[in-house]
Amino acid sequence: MIITKPPMGWNSWNTFARGVNERVIREAADAMVETGLRDAGYEYVVIDDCWSLKERGPDGRLVPNPETFPSGMNALSDYIHSKGLKFGMYSCAGIMTCTGAPGSYDKEFIDAETFAGWGVDYLKYDFCHFPAVADPRESYSRMAMALETTGRDIVFSACNGGLCEVEKWIRSTGAHLYRCTTDITETFPSILEHCRSQDEKIRYSAPGCYNDMDMLVVGMDGIGHHGHPGLCGDTEYKTHFALWCLFGQPLMMGSDLRRLRPEMLELLTNKDLLRIDQDAECRPPIEAGIKGDSRPSFFKHLSDRQFAVAFFNFTDEDGCADFRPWDIGLTTSAGVGMSLREVFTGEVVGPVNDFLSLYVPARDCKVFIGEWVTM
Ligand code: GLA
Repeated sequence: MIITKPPMGWNSWNTFARGVNERVIREAADAMVETGLRDAGYEYVVIDDCWSLKERGPDGRLVPNPETFPSGMNALSDYIHSKGLKFGMYSCAGIMTCTGAPGSYDKEFIDAETFAGWGVDYLKYDFCHFPAVADPRESYSRMAMALETTGRDIVFSACNGGLCEVEKWIRSTGAHLYRCTTDITETFPSILEHCRSQDEKIRYSAPGCYNDMDMLVVGMDGIGHHGHPGLCGDTEYKTHFALWCLFGQPLMMGSDLRRLRPEMLELLTNKDLLRIDQDAECRPPIEAGIKGDSRPSFFKHLSDRQFAVAFFNFTDEDGCADFRPWDIGLTTSAGVGMSLREVFTGEVVGPVNDFLSLYVPARDCKVFIGEWVTM
């Protein structure tokens, strides 16, 4: 099975963590449909950790907690599928999950069969309590094999926190996406750190196996497990989402979809940003200014002869972000220039093939989709 676009959906962890239950999963699925998120492309509804009993059943299989998931996984899976959505679940490559539920180490084949039997379409596979003597590459590879032998198409989302130089070997295991960072929190420094940590790693992301900088905190508004009241507002969410799209990331929403504000819905369904994120070629952006600048600019080749140009201000002071075309190989004598359209405001810039300095308010960004024109 090959995946050719970074997956889009919702995951329970950021908001619900240990408080997950079948009601909030159903309500998340309902909200995905009612808000138009499904029609914008979000399709997976993923239950993260804390869905199972702490012991396996007498048959050695994982058992959903009957108090929090009384209807069972088949009923929940049917419900999610009846909404035109796909069903995701969670397990761990270690002996236990991060919260102490049974992990799938050495139980990969029986667990994959259980997940397939529940109609699972996506498996997030974590890395806690991993035996010191075991080899991560072998374990992720074994689960990929186990999923394949079920005969069901199941997206395999590896999640080892970016450890063990995972970017160098994960593609060989059969995983379709892999976490290349630690856990995100709802703070601007965490968002930036997640992105900046990929400077040397984003090149490994490509169709078939995508980098995953973690679930989105867009619209959490301080509520939930990873919520930090007051530390992110609409500007920080906008920059967070723009960065994830520019870096071609899986878009797994983590907020409470039942209470998503209209501004956040508008952001999450921005057609141009989603077009950049889901671009078929998934090319890494090129930093087109002084590398590591706190007001950086980026250029990204897209398919269909288009490209994206983005200006960020990571600082707390308004100022200009510079774009140096020569850093992307474009010269003023080339006879072509960039015609740019901003994805939030529709503002048009260009044609231009010379130094461009744009004013960007603190923590904000400007993102353009561009086309080449003769000059
Ligand atoms: C790890 C993962 C998180 C989440 C928790 C669940 O920390 O990185 O995304 O799945 O485990 O326990």
